[in-house]
Amino acid sequence: MEEAGRRLGHIFASVSSVLCAGSTTLDVDAWIEDKLLKYDLVSKSKGYKGLYHHVSCISVNDVVVHGIPSKAFILRDGDLVKIDVCASWKGYCADMARAFFVGQGEGASEGKRLVEVAYSALDKGISKALAGNHLSDISAAIQEEVEAASFGVVRDFAGHGIGKQMHEEPEVLNFGKPGRGPILRPGMALALEPMITMGSYKIKIMPDGWTAKTADGSLAAHVEDTIVITEAEPKVITRYNL
Ligand code: MF3
Ligand code: CO
Repeated sequence: MEEAGRRLGHIFASVSSVLCAGSTTLDVDAWIEDKLLKYDLVSKSKGYKGLYHHVSCISVNDVVVHGIPSKAFILRDGDLVKIDVCASWKGYCADMARAFFVGQGEGASEGKRLVEVAYSALDKGISKALAGNHLSDISAAIQEEVEAASFGVVRDFAGHGIGKQMHEEPEVLNFGKPGRGPILRPGMALALEPMITMGSYKIKIMPDGWTAKTADGSLAAHVEDTIVITEAEPKVITRYNL
């Protein structure tokens, strides 16, 4: 899993090179598919439930998660783009998502703040991923960080256990009271993925039955890391940097 995370981290380190105004989200997905092949990684989303046909989810602006790459979706300067990729190396998975702004500008400052809080919420969650803690200590830490910034925490999707499968038990909610759920033990692997909004946390599913947007049209951010619980600090396996 660490090796899967390391390789995925490499790909994310250069993905911004294809996030240009005028590119389509399908172009970006094709670029990622090529990289996965080069890095000997197998997509866990392509063929998912026999329904999904892409190696990434690319969710722009008010799309929270599960944006479907499309040749009709043309990126524009300032767009807030969340890219989510899960892939395995020799059968072991890593799941990762990052948020980017298209172009030189970093988007409206409010969008920038939203993304900063998504990352800080992820970090707060990771900081609670300690052996002996309860699972929901992670959830509560994420919610607290997001709501302290007056942003919304999406309730309809969650992080998850991960291993040979992309989605394993337990579900890792991004909200809730601390001190609940299973005790964390060394060796457990989790994908933590706060999904946050600038307005209401309510979402709506598009007619495609897949894409999740904010109900009120507000901007959304989503970031994700795969971590492993250890005897000491959690190991974040999707943050390899060159
Ligand atoms: N990678 C996503 C996650 O973070 C799930 C992908 S959904 C799929 O859990 F439809 F693309 F497979
Ligand atoms: Co995930």
